[in-house]
Amino acid sequence: MHPVFVARSQSALPIWFVTKATFSKVTASLNKTDRDFIKTADYAPAPGRSLILPSGAVLFGLEGADDPQNAFLPGLLPGILPAGTYRFANAPHDARLAALAFALGTYKFTRYRKVKEKTLKLALPDGVDGDDLTRMAEGVTLARDLINTPTNDLGPAELEAAAKSLAKQHGAKFRSIVGDKLLKENFPLIHAVGRAAADTNQPRLIELRWGKASDPKVTLVGKGVCFDTGGLDLKPESAMLIMKKDMGGAATVLACAHMIMSRGLKVSLRVLIPAVENSVAGNAFRPLDVYPSRKGISVEIGNTDAEGRLVLADALALADEESPELLVCMGTLTGAARVALGPELPPYYTDDETLAADVSRFATSENDPLWRLPLWMRYDANLDGKTGELNNVASGGMAGSIICALFLKRFVSAAKSWLHFDIYAWTPSAKPARPEGGECQAARALYQLLCERYA
Ligand code: BES
Ligand code: MN
Ligand code: ZN
Repeated sequence: MHPVFVARSQSALPIWFVTKATFSKVTASLNKTDRDFIKTADYAPAPGRSLILPSGAVLFGLEGADDPQNAFLPGLLPGILPAGTYRFANAPHDARLAALAFALGTYKFTRYRKVKEKTLKLALPDGVDGDDLTRMAEGVTLARDLINTPTNDLGPAELEAAAKSLAKQHGAKFRSIVGDKLLKENFPLIHAVGRAAADTNQPRLIELRWGKASDPKVTLVGKGVCFDTGGLDLKPESAMLIMKKDMGGAATVLACAHMIMSRGLKVSLRVLIPAVENSVAGNAFRPLDVYPSRKGISVEIGNTDAEGRLVLADALALADEESPELLVCMGTLTGAARVALGPELPPYYTDDETLAADVSRFATSENDPLWRLPLWMRYDANLDGKTGELNNVASGGMAGSIICALFLKRFVSAAKSWLHFDIYAWTPSAKPARPEGGECQAARALYQLLCERYA
């Protein structure tokens, strides 16, 4: 069980959720000392507003059950509460999401800077599956830790080690193709992007397999660019600053894989992570170089900073070779996705209408926001190359996230369904249950969708 959860307990301090409508009824049920305190405290319920009472009980303001985002407001509680064991004394909008938000809200990245520990516990609300909350919170924690770890401690080799340890934890098969072996085994684009990194950070293709081979094949591919300098098309300092997070897709597919394996879904799971550092050196790949790709399409480099789609292209081509039932791709691919939708609403792409509707349904029910954008085929020709068959960017720079999705789509032909997420993997300023820094986006929604199909 997640360390924050304990079994039901009557001795736990009560958290009372209050709205303008329920405030007077709730306060009437409290003891006189607490009631008098509330009068002098001049407290009025407002979303996220709390009051700690003399008895140790807590008032916490909620409002607007109509806005699913409010389901995570209780994620503010770990930042507010003194150490202790608590319980929900009355029902929040959604007890399951409230408890999950509470767990996610306890997250701190403490690898380099110890923070004062405060022992907080939450009694599991009635009827909530603590094991399922735990595997989701563990997955999110894994992703956040990996994203927050700076590249000097999380290059391609360490990302491989993290994937390997997850594989070991779940009895999954593991393999990794490293350095020049990528050329021998026909992953020219992964090699080209990653070859300028130091010897200790050689590019690689990480693979994990789990489950019964006869079960439906679900393959997750995650962008593992451990640092993105932009390459020779170097990023300016403001854009380069947080590029340790450019392996957010890899972190997210590992998080999702953890949830799937922990639950024991009836799938034949495959995880592929092209892990590289997009670095600058004499042997770096260059603008207008042309490379073969695993799929056989020759690719002209319009911009070395559009590296994520290149490494994903070879990994997607490999995944596609065994025609999986569902092929999912995730990565921090474009600044354009942020311009369009901002940091907390990643776009997703698919031609499978049923799948699209399911993703959107679970994005809402899990409060894991996602928004569909179109694979607008009229833009596809903008990617045609002049020297090679395909350019990795389109001129003009419009519809950047769609263009990237269309580029990736060229490398998928046999998979029954293909689903692509252009995530941000970062929370720029703290929100309830979402502390500032690395964030796990889309994994919970995808996991619950897979549970509905394959439990
Ligand atoms: N990793 C970046 C995308 C990115 C930038 C994600 C900032 C989140 C925040 C990606 O490799 C990249 O550099 N994309 C370029 C593509 C362009 C050259 C077509 C971009 O978005 O500017
Ligand atoms: Mn880039
Ligand atoms: Zn990148």
